[in-house]
Amino acid sequence: MSAISLSEGIWWVGVVDWGLREFHGLSAERGSSYNAYLVVDEKVALIDAVRGDLSETLLENIASVIDPSRIDYVISNHAEPDHSSGLGAVIDACGSPAVLATPNGVKRLKEMYRRDWRFQPVGDGEELSLGSRSLRFIHAPLLHWPETMFTYDVLSATLFSCDAFGAHLATTERFVDQLGAETVLDFTRQYYAFLVAPFRKSVLSALAKAAEVPVSVIAPSHGPVWRENTGMVTSAYYDWASLKYEDRAVIIYGSMWDSTRKMAYAIAEGVRQEGLEVRVFDVEKSVPSDIISACFLSRLTLLGSPTFVGGIYPPVEAFLPWLKVPRDSGRKMTCFGSYGWSSGAVKKLIAAQEANGYPVMEEGLALQFAPTAEGLAECADFGRRAARWALEK
Ligand code: FEO
Repeated sequence: MSAISLSEGIWWVGVVDWGLREFHGLSAERGSSYNAYLVVDEKVALIDAVRGDLSETLLENIASVIDPSRIDYVISNHAEPDHSSGLGAVIDACGSPAVLATPNGVKRLKEMYRRDWRFQPVGDGEELSLGSRSLRFIHAPLLHWPETMFTYDVLSATLFSCDAFGAHLATTERFVDQLGAETVLDFTRQYYAFLVAPFRKSVLSALAKAAEVPVSVIAPSHGPVWRENTGMVTSAYYDWASLKYEDRAVIIYGSMWDSTRKMAYAIAEGVRQEGLEVRVFDVEKSVPSDIISACFLSRLTLLGSPTFVGGIYPPVEAFLPWLKVPRDSGRKMTCFGSYGWSSGAVKKLIAAQEANGYPVMEEGLALQFAPTAEGLAECADFGRRAARWALEK
């Protein structure tokens, strides 16, 4: 895919990665893009690069707009290698551009690449004149690494936000309005829940800073560009960072001989009867990030495990650390499961969730062997009670 004009003097020169399917545990079922942007004026700036193995395409895209040797400044908003491992190839092709990043970003780039580039640390609020337009640097740490910043083009009111507001989504279209904002927002949410949610206070700080300037375009480093209704994605970020819980529940279970699965389905029906939308995941057949995205800001999460050697069924136990990723500690939880001749899994699941700091409906529900009709009715009742408890203010 060749360069695409965002507005007068601003070009997308990134690379679409159609083959990506997973990113540090985050499902990327629709691929992704690594967005780099060229701002052309009397001076020329490149904002971010791409993954190193894709830098040839980045250079081709730059060359379709200008001779790469014309680049005066290479700006690194974020040092993670999906945006920085292609910097070396670009810098080599440019000659000796200045490499701008936050002081922390300069430190990271030096540590990672051990190259003697012409580094120029930039302060929060500092501006770089390109001639008739200028770029402002807005430090936005922990989105999602300590060195991250936004770059803001004052003339076009374009915010180059790096990972923030981005989504893993490979498309031929470059703009959100060509794809449908709701569709893009689903992918943005999944990205947020897995990679950004642990840093919600940083999100709120960055949103407050971004609100000090007019923003017409949000150009993230993954997925399509918001050139209309940017308030839609900033409002969504605000709601997510403010932990506005939604009337949804998630049931996550593992099952050896189907008894815990039957319990999960019956509990789901009870939860639904109290007005919560329910999603059910078999932990052995699901991608962790899909489950986490569904759990994020759900009022209620129910964990189910059969008892295995007196404890939690290993596939369920292996999933537990993923639950801590979004750090939405107000999510209410309870647990259930079947057992054979000795119980134990439910108590251990409950103890693990209490240790993680979640509000827990402590009694849980454990049933012996295959559930009877009465047992399934008990499950539905348990689901109703859990849902009513989750809906309490
Ligand atoms: Fe897209 Fe944090 O790198």
